[in-house]
Amino acid sequence: MSHPTLRAEEHDDRVVVTLSRPEARNAINAAMVRELHEVCAGLEERPRLLLLTGDGGTFAAGADIGELRDRGREQALQGINSRLFDRIARLPMPTVAAVDGYALGGGAELAYACDIRLASPAAVFGNPEPGLGILAAAGACWRLRELVGASVAKQVLLAGKRLDAEEALRLGLVAEIAPHGELLERAHALLDRMARSGPLALRLTKLVADAPGGHPITDDLAQAILFESADKRARMDAFLAGGRS
Ligand code: COA
Repeated sequence: MSHPTLRAEEHDDRVVVTLSRPEARNAINAAMVRELHEVCAGLEERPRLLLLTGDGGTFAAGADIGELRDRGREQALQGINSRLFDRIARLPMPTVAAVDGYALGGGAELAYACDIRLASPAAVFGNPEPGLGILAAAGACWRLRELVGASVAKQVLLAGKRLDAEEALRLGLVAEIAPHGELLERAHALLDRMARSGPLALRLTKLVADAPGGHPITDDLAQAILFESADKRARMDAFLAGGRS
């Protein structure tokens, strides 16, 4: 797939997307939103893992401020970023954000929408939107609270607190800090581990884990599907035969 604002590498079990507007610190503009929707459409049609990262030592420095300045009420109500990030959050298979450098504003919200985040030592998360006279309307006001709790979320949202890699790790916002230069390698290792699981099992686990209430009925229904799958029988037969993977 060729896109002006990102690179998307397609593999059998994963798609690797690198945001690439280094001249604007990978700021998310309308073209990038469109291209990320195309990536989502491909992943909805053929579910695979997603690894999302940024070029040039930055994850993404937020929504493109040049475009934001000219947006009005109509565009806010269209939920340009919030709908994209919701679509990403609902992708069928797990998503991983590999965050090197700044993940600010909409860039942070994009990372919050992923299932798991890894950081380089240079990662910085923050939501400076009120400084620009707006609010973080694409998920930070609720996803960040779910991820780190209301106290820290309010420090980030209201007091401009930035979370560096160590703090993000301590809070559980990121799963690990990869040593310098090893971020993508570590992210792929994480995806490799997930790719060894049953794809349908992963998919249903994500769906049930994100289900708003409805437990344990949703869990039982999803399990009922998995209990009938050939993949489950093959994996359990292999375990019982001693072939641990
Ligand atoms: N939207 C549009 N352009 C942006 C941008 C954004 N969110 N973030 C950075 N850029 C552009 C800068 O305008 C600059 O362009 P120029 O070279 O034409 O002047 C270029 O990217 C490099 O940015 P610069 O600030 O010089 O880089 P830096 O390494 O010193 O700082 C940041 C990096 C991320 C700390 C800084 O760019 C920044 O604070 N960006 C805005 C973050 C923000 O408020 N995001 C929330 C948006 S809702």
